[in-house]
Amino acid sequence: MSTERTINPSPERVPELRLRDEQGRAFTLVDPGGGPVVVALAPGWDARLGERYADSLGAELRGFGATLLVLDRESCWRIQPDDRMDRVTVDHAGGVLHARAAAALLGLAGPREPRPGLAVLLVDARGRARFRHVEPEAKGRDAAATLLAALRSAGRACRAETLRPLLQLTRRELLMTTLVAAFALALGDGCADPAPPPQAPTLPVGAPPGTVKMILRVNGQARALEIESRVTLLDALRERLGLTGTKKGCDHGQCGSCTVHVNGRRTLSCLTLAVMHQGAAITTIEGLARGAELHPMQAAFVEHDGFQCGFCTPGQIMSAVGLLSEGHALRDHEVREQMSGNLCRCGAYPNIVAAIQSARGRS
Ligand code: FES
Ligand code: FES
Repeated sequence: MSTERTINPSPERVPELRLRDEQGRAFTLVDPGGGPVVVALAPGWDARLGERYADSLGAELRGFGATLLVLDRESCWRIQPDDRMDRVTVDHAGGVLHARAAAALLGLAGPREPRPGLAVLLVDARGRARFRHVEPEAKGRDAAATLLAALRSAGRACRAETLRPLLQLTRRELLMTTLVAAFALALGDGCADPAPPPQAPTLPVGAPPGTVKMILRVNGQARALEIESRVTLLDALRERLGLTGTKKGCDHGQCGSCTVHVNGRRTLSCLTLAVMHQGAAITTIEGLARGAELHPMQAAFVEHDGFQCGFCTPGQIMSAVGLLSEGHALRDHEVREQMSGNLCRCGAYPNIVAAIQSARGRS
């Protein structure tokens, strides 16, 4: 049996599964208003593998705010960008559903025995199965590495077959696009906010090939743009809209200095394309203050000297505001962990943690 990839041109809805985390909090597989979900059937997955690959998986998911649900033979695990991996249970008909049965409900396994190897299902924010990817040869101990490869491969396949005609990218341009951006693109087509679907970018008559007219909603204002479809959100903000508060450090999703909020979730703007965010509410560092009144997090950074050169500071503040709204990091070591995607070359970390803890009470 070889690798299978199935792209869903007319996607069906997946069953509405209810899940519960270790604290007993209930949530649904698809969160209306939330992001896309990647479900992976990965026999042989365990907590040790998850911890080892948490950073890489988080980086794959972070650019577009997706959640990963991994089903092994016995257990279910949830991995969110900027969050620790946690074990979850699947509730169904008043009882706890075995991971294998949950996989069967989602079409990732047969009714009796799971498929060998690894299967990945991409579910968009409206609960529709966008495509499946099956790697029959994946061995248990390589499940995490194979999962990463499957995410990237599925993204490439989806983009090549469904988005290339739209974006009209050349081979060279395709190669220049990062794997993460590719996966984000694959999900972005149809995985956007379920609220009123934004107008698809259209190629205006007479416009240069590859450019699209679009509206970005930034800091509460609608901003008209005519840009190439490959322009990142970061470049659109900085180079086209003049919002240079958002910084470009690595341009590769590694430093966090480009962090902005998209629909309230912290997002690395260098890893996502502007055309994917028509209709989304984008907030940059320029949108935090109310006139002359600083946002409580900005004020706390000033009070606690949470910076030296200041280059990383806009990203740190946007990430810190997102962290407080996520509400899961209370103690200092948890704050450090949840802010670990934001690097500071000046080493202002102790003061940054102090500023965040101080802002917590005021926000
Ligand atoms: Fe985006 Fe470094 S510039 S993470
Ligand atoms: Fe200089 Fe963070 S304050 S890089």
